[in-house]
Amino acid sequence: MMANTSEEIASLDRFNPFDPAVQAQPWEYNDLLVSQAPVHRDANTGLVLVSSYEWVSHVLAHHESFSNRFMLLMGGGAKAKVPEAVSEIMKEGYPPVDTMLTADPPEQRRFRSLVNKGFTVRSVGRLGTRVENLVSDLIDAFAGDGRVELRSQFAVPLPLTLIAEQLGVPQEDLGKFRKWSDGFVAQLSGMATPEEQVEAWKLIVEFQKYFEKVLEDRADNPRNDIISALVTARVEGEKPLDTAECLSILQQLLVAGNETTASTLCEGMRLLVENPEQLERLREEPTLIPNAVEEMLRLTTPTANMWRVCLEETEIGGVSIPAGSGMLVRYSAANRDPAIFPDPHRFDVARPNAGEHLAFGAGVHFCLGAQLARTELVKGFEALIERLPNPRFPEGSPPPEYPPNILLRGMTALPLEFDIS
Ligand code: HEM
Repeated sequence: MMANTSEEIASLDRFNPFDPAVQAQPWEYNDLLVSQAPVHRDANTGLVLVSSYEWVSHVLAHHESFSNRFMLLMGGGAKAKVPEAVSEIMKEGYPPVDTMLTADPPEQRRFRSLVNKGFTVRSVGRLGTRVENLVSDLIDAFAGDGRVELRSQFAVPLPLTLIAEQLGVPQEDLGKFRKWSDGFVAQLSGMATPEEQVEAWKLIVEFQKYFEKVLEDRADNPRNDIISALVTARVEGEKPLDTAECLSILQQLLVAGNETTASTLCEGMRLLVENPEQLERLREEPTLIPNAVEEMLRLTTPTANMWRVCLEETEIGGVSIPAGSGMLVRYSAANRDPAIFPDPHRFDVARPNAGEHLAFGAGVHFCLGAQLARTELVKGFEALIERLPNPRFPEGSPPPEYPPNILLRGMTALPLEFDIS
């Protein structure tokens, strides 16, 4: 890779990855990064941005150099500096511990093998019918109206209800569950003001207190749910999970799956409405829906960025990265790299290599919930396509809004109209 010219760097530094407008529509910036500086030190923040498919794949494959112990960068880790008011609230709960997503092998492997005991694909296979029924119930509730706000009436409740059921949370506590999920998203956003951090941590402590009791109960009276599996999980030679570790894992299961799946459902539907010929093709050939879902994941990339920390001085893509540097793996850029995906911004439900996207990551941190998410998305779109004829945006509806979040990109609402069949 040739070193960049100073003019090219200057044009890149017009953009700031923390600018909410860049987060909402990162495409022009991403294209510049991929074509001119696939590994780039951002002058505004000092962070190293990794954007091309090749270099993103390289970073994901080298966890020994590029660590996931990034909570320190984000003000959430055990030794992080946090505002006084936040640390006061944190004292009331369990200390944050680094588990799967925020740990490195070999510790990360220990967590993953224990969680796999509870979160095996065993349940996902059997979950198929439950997903179908829930999808159908959610659509029944608005199918006769000819209009829906897809995010709140379908995209959020689908994954939230399923994970709550998997965790053994009763239906009446779903509202709390949703609030906690929003608290975690705010804490992860990297964009929260100190006041918002305080609010987010209040919710996190509330979550911890709720699940502390559930964990105690399941230790004595195990049921057929993931929480029971977590508290009773034993892997030969591994220490069982303690309460703080279980809580951290539950938090990850809650936040990692809800926001991302909801975003893909909304963004996928937006793509279908904006590309009626592709929607028509899926109506005629529903067997293409699983491939269309991969193409939606590629274009949506709800985990737009993910943190890494460089552990030892390294040079990649002609850029020298000092030890301790914060890095952003730009999944949203890699998934539109023209070297891998020709005409990368085009939505093509039959794209032959759509499934090569990195929306679920790769390597040791490859998404634990990928199979569950795919099941929800395929069943969700099968039903939406069949049951919402002629979907369209209501006249005069504004373009979707994307709240500021350095990691997760997803719209706030998607109002739709459709014919009543
Ligand atoms: C469309 C939906 C989803 C997307 C796009 C997505 C994306 C991702 C990505 C990119 C990673 C890797 C992060 C990294 O590079 O460090 C990841 C990890 C993870 N995901 Fe997902 N995810 C989705 C759904 C789910 C669901 C449904 C669950 C569980 C209920 C889940 C649980 C996890 C967990 C626990 C990890 C951490 C695994 C580890 O570090 O070992 N995700 N996900």
